Amino acid sequence: MIEGKNVLTGVKPTGKPHLGNYLGAIKPAIDMGASAKQHIMFIADYHAINAEKNVEILNKEIREIACIYLAAGLNPDKSIFYRQSDVPEILEITTILTAFTPKGFMNKAHAYKAAVDKNIAAGKPNDDGINMGLYTYPVLMAADILTFNTDVVPVGKDQVQHVEIARDIAGAINAYYGKDLLVLPEASFDDNIAVIPGVDGRKMSKSYGNVIPLFEDDATLKKAVFSVKTDSKPIDEPKNPDEVLVYEIYKAVAAPDKVQEMADGLKNGKLGYGHIKNMLLEAIIEKTAKEREAYNYYMSHYDEVQKILDAGAVKARAIAAKTLQRLKEAVFGF
Ligand code: TRP
Repeated sequence: MIEGKNVLTGVKPTGKPHLGNYLGAIKPAIDMGASAKQHIMFIADYHAINAEKNVEILNKEIREIACIYLAAGLNPDKSIFYRQSDVPEILEITTILTAFTPKGFMNKAHAYKAAVDKNIAAGKPNDDGINMGLYTYPVLMAADILTFNTDVVPVGKDQVQHVEIARDIAGAINAYYGKDLLVLPEASFDDNIAVIPGVDGRKMSKSYGNVIPLFEDDATLKKAVFSVKTDSKPIDEPKNPDEVLVYEIYKAVAAPDKVQEMADGLKNGKLGYGHIKNMLLEAIIEKTAKEREAYNYYMSHYDEVQKILDAGAVKARAIAAKTLQRLKEAVFGF
């Protein structure tokens, strides 16, 4: 339940989202803007530089993600939308938080541990290629969250630990000064959101290379849809819909009556794989046509997007300045 709550989500600009990201994370997070008390979405560009240093790529990915969120229905009148790097108070708050963050927390953080494990598996020194940005990124993430008096952080499973670290840091600061300086955030993880399978049947994920891209041209979308795995049953052989991957994906995008139609057609041998792939393609296009068009519009009118982000940063800084002031008064006594 997010009514009356302050909700915040950070998005790393690391490539365009695919159908699974879009339906499973982006859309639900944006939709929370309608009922939250305060709804914040921001582009975590300082997080991105830990992994990506190329200015052209960074610039492009920041622009793309900004356009995608607006195209997906983020309403700048209801939600505060900004670039992290436009709100310097977050970095000052990060500095205060580091003084209350046990180093051991960072050693245990998943992202860092995963990087170390990868090095060990490759026979490299533990910290090979790991920068301090990656190592301490849970502190910056804690500042992202705590700066805005966040109650709820909707996240994927992999981020729950980081929200817990933010909560622990806030708790340590509140305990030390004996007052509620910082709101204790909670991760919210929605189990009801369907995991959408990729073209090979595993969870759709960029790292598996099995995605259905959304914000590419029609030909690229079509190619992905037609690469969804099937067996070689002929059209007239009855098929169990639950064993048909195209049908699994279709369920996530098509209206219930259409889904029923596909199930019936498969069961009674009226629909072949070519047919159902076309149905899937049509359903995806129908479900996302408005967004894909809006995305292209924003990409070619980026000045409008820039204005929205600038206005968002002004709103964000007003909140951030108050949190920073509250902390400084506690820390320095004036
Ligand atoms: N670490 C998050 C990710 O990798 C992105 C992020 C940065 C974030 N700051 C945040 C998410 C604050 C929620 C709240 O996806």
